Amino acid sequence: MDKIIVLDFGSQYSHLICRRIREFSVYAELVPFDISLEELKRLNPKGIVFSGGPASVYNKDSPQPSSKIFEMGLPVLGICYGHQIIVNNFGGKVKRANKEYGSSTLTIDNGSDLLAGMGKSTRAWMSHGDAAESLPAGFEVIGHTESSFAAAIANRQKLIYGIQFHPEVVHTEQGIQVLKNFVLNICKAKQDWTLENFVDSTVDEISKIEGNVLCGISGGVDSTVAAVLIQKAIGRRLKCVFVDNGLLRAGEEAEVKEIFEKNFGIDFVAINAGERFLSRLTGVVDPEQKRKIVGEEFVKVFTEFAEASGPFRWLAQGTLYPDVIESGISKGPAAVIKTHHNVGGLPSWLNLQVLEPLRFLYKDEVRRVGKILGVPDKILFRHPFPGPGLAVRIMGDVTREKLQICRQASRIVEEELQDAGLYDKVWQAFATVGDDRAVGVVGDERKYGHVALVRIVDSIDAMTADWTRLPNDVLERISNRITNEVEDVAWVGYVISSKPPATIEPQ
Ligand code: XMP
Repeated sequence: MDKIIVLDFGSQYSHLICRRIREFSVYAELVPFDISLEELKRLNPKGIVFSGGPASVYNKDSPQPSSKIFEMGLPVLGICYGHQIIVNNFGGKVKRANKEYGSSTLTIDNGSDLLAGMGKSTRAWMSHGDAAESLPAGFEVIGHTESSFAAAIANRQKLIYGIQFHPEVVHTEQGIQVLKNFVLNICKAKQDWTLENFVDSTVDEISKIEGNVLCGISGGVDSTVAAVLIQKAIGRRLKCVFVDNGLLRAGEEAEVKEIFEKNFGIDFVAINAGERFLSRLTGVVDPEQKRKIVGEEFVKVFTEFAEASGPFRWLAQGTLYPDVIESGISKGPAAVIKTHHNVGGLPSWLNLQVLEPLRFLYKDEVRRVGKILGVPDKILFRHPFPGPGLAVRIMGDVTREKLQICRQASRIVEEELQDAGLYDKVWQAFATVGDDRAVGVVGDERKYGHVALVRIVDSIDAMTADWTRLPNDVLERISNRITNEVEDVAWVGYVISSKPPATIEPQ
């Protein structure tokens, strides 16, 4: 498979470069900027992209790639900071300049290769404080904006290109065209990265492993898709376990069980451990303490199961590509099958190796793989749910009464959003409950009931979130149904705090 390697200099858009390239079926991988030359050679890329980044190339400690990279004879495209690295490396000058931020008109001076097919001018997204002041020998300007005379440069002999703008963001009108020109025409990479190929090659690779695989299932997208993929490769040598910790959404276990057993014939065990978790959580109000208890108890239940039903050789996890990069363990070529010991707090004597079939994929790619494998949309498009479950959705101590309220009210929120066609448009939607009480009147009777708070947010990656401006009639239906149908709720509130400063979950 042909691949493009993106060196990460710390731009918030680095991942986006990979994603855009993958969108036109060429495999792209993000690696740290200081990857060694040997490692890079081993990856055998068709071309290299330098991402943007927050540093200034003229500062002593600025991140720099190995200068030998330019001697590999591979095409290089520098974006923003990456562009400045190229200018600096070949003897041009980069200086602090007037900040250019937002959309600019890029005039194309030479549209013969990198900027081919883009007409005379186009809108391009800029975000930089430094700029090239003079160009190195051998480079020519192929595009400029009003404030950047060298917004796009080329050294055709060496196939080295630099652009000050960001082709990976949607605000750059023909950004994809620039990336395609580089990847397909200059690097001559083949478009052979498809998720159908990924499924075939991953199933093939996993089918070679020996021993049994244990997989913890949460009902979420990632662990489900990972399990279905593994099952396709090794059938009943995969055993899936679902721990009901008593802190799940309404109907979760039944749904997951049906899909695993009926749709896929996966060897599946559900462990009802609710009592164990709830008794340890009694009287605990501190959120971090709750998280710790749920985590510890999970490891205990899981370990007991692994001991009793083993031996297992492998532990499957639904780790995704951004997690791999963030945890800094992706130095070089991440193999689908990685071997670690003592993962996730599990005791080392279980001797499990880790199987992470999704470690190359982004979330949207996981959903598409799920589609190829026939995983129902109900799972693929389900909102994220925290590992510690309702323990962090309930404020104060976790009681059966509050769990019941939280579950029923959340189900109403989900149903009403589904009915209004809004469920897939929001990031998360649920109800939370704490210890506050308020007075309501039922018939002629005053009742001193709970206050349920409805939380619905829009977000792209959960790092930031905005409260959803829901139509009033939907809010009204949610409120009416919760007070009518959920016992012991007198008031319903809608949370209008965004993240930051608030968080999505109440705890
Ligand atoms: P916050 O509340 O920090 O949540 O804005 C951001 C995203 O993370 C989820 N979340 C968790 N997920 N364990 C998890 O697996 C946790 O302890 C946890 N806390 C929050 C939350 O649902 C949201 O999607």
